[in-house]
Amino acid sequence: MSKKLTTSTGQPWADNQHSQTAGPRGPVLMQDYDLMEKLAHFDRERIPERVVHAKGAGAKGEFVLENDMSKYTKADLFNGVGKTTPIIIRFSQVAGEKGYPDTVRDVRGYALKFYTQEGNYDIVGNNTPVFFVNDPLKFPDFIHSQKRDPKTNRRTQEMQWDFWAHSPESIHQVTYLMGDRGLPASYREMNGYGSHTYKWVNKDGEQFWVKYHFISNQGVKNMSEAQAGKLAGENPDFLQDDLFDAIESKNYPSWNVYVQIIPYEDGLNYKWDIFDVTKVVSHKDYPLIKVGKYTLNENPTNNFTDVEEAAFSPANFVPGIEPSPDKLLQGRLFSYKDTQRYRLGVNFEDLPINKPLNEVHNYQRDGYMKSDNQGSEVNYEPNGQNGPKEDLSASVSGYSVEGTAGNQPYAHNVDYSAQAGDLYRLMSDDEKDRLINTIAGGLGQVDSMEIKTLEVNQMYAADKEYGKRVAKALNLDINEVLQLNN
Ligand code: HEM
Repeated sequence: MSKKLTTSTGQPWADNQHSQTAGPRGPVLMQDYDLMEKLAHFDRERIPERVVHAKGAGAKGEFVLENDMSKYTKADLFNGVGKTTPIIIRFSQVAGEKGYPDTVRDVRGYALKFYTQEGNYDIVGNNTPVFFVNDPLKFPDFIHSQKRDPKTNRRTQEMQWDFWAHSPESIHQVTYLMGDRGLPASYREMNGYGSHTYKWVNKDGEQFWVKYHFISNQGVKNMSEAQAGKLAGENPDFLQDDLFDAIESKNYPSWNVYVQIIPYEDGLNYKWDIFDVTKVVSHKDYPLIKVGKYTLNENPTNNFTDVEEAAFSPANFVPGIEPSPDKLLQGRLFSYKDTQRYRLGVNFEDLPINKPLNEVHNYQRDGYMKSDNQGSEVNYEPNGQNGPKEDLSASVSGYSVEGTAGNQPYAHNVDYSAQAGDLYRLMSDDEKDRLINTIAGGLGQVDSMEIKTLEVNQMYAADKEYGKRVAKALNLDINEVLQLNN
């Protein structure tokens, strides 16, 4: 039997097809509150989309710990083989708006929320292990160059390459993006990375640097430029639909979770700056260690409440996991919850999808749309009323800092081209061909000789062949291009 229609305040709703009017021709009566209410609510249906990563798809699942990690971290979710932690994941595109086609070349977002016994732990990463910039001051400008021109409202190759050409630290990630990984065949068939270096702390207070890798059990598959272009027209929601349909038909995708563990002192003295997110740490130096596996086995029941209202934040840590000094990460620790207060409201953490499994007890109260206001519990501290007490076992462990405070760039082995060259040389001949074609297709649309010169020089510095091939594909004389840069 159908449910009875009610208003939002629960009154039985008699007629949802005809407004109350004075006679069959109208006008409509002010007393028709059901109509006013319905229009007023509809008028307010849209909330701001995410300022980046607006287009995405999410699913729920569980993480199972296969290897006890207590030697490295006291984090509850990584202690005790077999422990199962509910999760939600949201995959996304970075630059396009909420209705943008899924198969346009882009880095893909890879955001995970673990609902642990000690609160929510989020890893907000990408399908690439590095990033375009390493200073948070540069992030808004980088994103502006990826979005629309203020005058024409077009996304332009000129803007994107202009930013990259003038930001040499971007070359590693640009090589990933222009390579096959820029067009994943599905969300199921891509790997994820925490990208930053984080810190793990065990119960004895020993600290380790850690990097996360999520390796797809479906394998890694990408699509061709031609296929992506065709799909963008035929089904702009291709990646979303693939994920949903796979889970709906019980073809549950899974990923193995690995970490690279870097002893504290070794990390500080590594040949590269492990806190510079434009760089990877060699798997030979620090091999992948298997931690466990997660599986996505449940689609959202309501996309708005399960996915749109989901608020992931790199600042959501649990005891045993802490930030590193990575400057970009430090900027992110502020930005996510700040945008979520704007996008979802000050009490976004009360929303069911963001609520932790455990009870919340603190001295924060009130604000718009507060739903869990902790009843009559005391709302100030210190107090003599047995209010919630601090948990010293959750104290962050210290790390040493050095140097002079001020605006400063990275200093420790900043060479941005070397690892981009390693990535280029790892590619097969076919992959290299596609990379050169893709770059020529994009950079070839740029008029500015300055941009082309700077960019080709970055590629040449990464690998001479890489630079020469791009120059050739752009009909440029490599010797002239190299001279122009001097
Ligand atoms: C989303 C800022 C760098 C991955 C977002 C959002 C903001 C933001 C404001 C929207 C969040 C929301 O509305 O809920 C920044 C800033 C960065 C930065 C300021 C650098 C200073 C990165 C990096 C990665 C990344 C390095 C990956 C390694 C993501 C992902 C999302 C996202 C995956 C989507 C989360 C979701 O699915 O809801 N970022 N971001 N971001 N960012 Fe970043």
